[in-house]
Amino acid sequence: MPTRRTFIKTSAAAIGGIGIAQSLPGSLLAGSRVRGANDRITLALIGVRNMGWGDLEDLLKQPGVVCKTLCDVDDTVLAEKANALTEAGSGRPLLEKDYRKVLDDKDIDAVIIGTPDHWHCLPLIDACQAGKHVYVEKPLANSIGEINVMLDAARKYKRLVQVGQQQRSGAHWQSAIEFVRSGKLGTIRQVKYWANFNYGAGNMPVPDSAPPPGVDYDRWLGPAPDRSFNRNRFHGSWRMFRDYGGGLMTDWGVHLIDMGLWAMDVQTAPRSVASIGGIFAHGDRALEMPDTLTVLYEMDGFNMVWEHNGGVQQGPYDQLFGVKFIGTNGTLVADRDKWRVFPEWGGENWRMEEVEEQPGDQLSHVNHCGNFIRAIRYGEPLNAGIEIGHRAALYAHLGNISHWAGERVVYDEKTRSITNSEKGNALITPEYRSPWKFPVI
Ligand SMILES: NC(=O)c1ccc[n+]([C@@H]2O[C@H](COP(=O)([O-])OP(=O)(O)OC[C@H]3O[C@@H](n4cnc5c(N)ncnc54)[C@H](O)[C@@H]3O)[C@@H](O)[C@H]2O)c1
Repeated sequence: MPTRRTFIKTSAAAIGGIGIAQSLPGSLLAGSRVRGANDRITLALIGVRNMGWGDLEDLLKQPGVVCKTLCDVDDTVLAEKANALTEAGSGRPLLEKDYRKVLDDKDIDAVIIGTPDHWHCLPLIDACQAGKHVYVEKPLANSIGEINVMLDAARKYKRLVQVGQQQRSGAHWQSAIEFVRSGKLGTIRQVKYWANFNYGAGNMPVPDSAPPPGVDYDRWLGPAPDRSFNRNRFHGSWRMFRDYGGGLMTDWGVHLIDMGLWAMDVQTAPRSVASIGGIFAHGDRALEMPDTLTVLYEMDGFNMVWEHNGGVQQGPYDQLFGVKFIGTNGTLVADRDKWRVFPEWGGENWRMEEVEEQPGDQLSHVNHCGNFIRAIRYGEPLNAGIEIGHRAALYAHLGNISHWAGERVVYDEKTRSITNSEKGNALITPEYRSPWKFPVI
């Protein structure tokens, strides 16, 4: 039996046709105010500490883009980032704590939403209503009820919404998807995802305390339930607590599951979703989300399996995270650094030609930002419009809901409900804390 290396190497050119983003689903364009190449695009950033800031940095690399306002509920974060922006030569931004005041500013063309997941829905809907385009971080929101009304709002107000699933703008992801779709792997019967990260184990517990000076904690909580301040539930580590995030399932789930849905051209909800898991390894830590979870997605003609292990830094194929497409002729395995194909031995010969490893270029994020700006300016189709963010978030949230309900769940897209599990259905829409109201579109 020959080894993989004895195969004639397929050149990168033979893989061919790289760059299929344009032919893939974009977003709504009807509402896009197409502008001239020299028109300035003025941004505001809502939620500036970490990823929102990264988004702004790459958006400001696009020609003719300026930032007028930074909005955050933490004065320290605001001051630090205002200084960084000024030192970088971008001028002194206006500073704001209430995002609604940012939306009143007619100069702002588009906003970036870099707040924790429980704070994506209201700013996005208000921004669309105020006529702004939106770059919103992933997952689209922290519940299925929210992503549904966000989709409705973007459609109703005809705004461009780019979701921060930047892998959609990565050249090696695009070529991997094209390869999967080429048929060379044969019949694909299973798509598997895994994400093993230390942070998925949560932090060591600390006692509740007063919020740090300069933090408007009531506004940070927003529509989430009232409770005393704890550092572990705040900046960065909120994602392991249900009121604000969905743990590894949604944090990494939307990035990776999106690749499978894209490659397999999935346009619908799964037939059913069944999860098992729990906090099996890190019960001494501060977290509510399962550190261990396996989710089975029943699809049309193939299986999908999600798996995460918080606190583990090893994974299949020596990859911390990844996606693999198992076909009759071979298996394609991808992460952010590369994709590789492992051909099947058919007894007498290999079922497919060997394929050279395809490296990632680490440009997906800056490309994603460029795509958003070109969508506003020239009407270029969005690589990760709201429908794409909505679908990935739906799949990820159903994984968590099945876990919390302890039941296999069936989601009906027409009625936007879980039809076979009362417990699951009760988890679709969160209750908003007064004075915040769950939006009606
Ligand atoms: N695309 C990616 O690869 C990627 C990577 C990391 C994070 N993210 C996403 O980015 C979002 C932010 O994550 P993070 O790691 O930057 O979180 P973070 O906690 O570091 O930062 C969030 C910021 O939002 C501010 N904020 C909270 N409520 C606010 C409000 N009502 N108005 C204005 N500001 C408010 C906080 O004070 C904080 O500065 C999340 O949705 C996360 O999933 C995406």
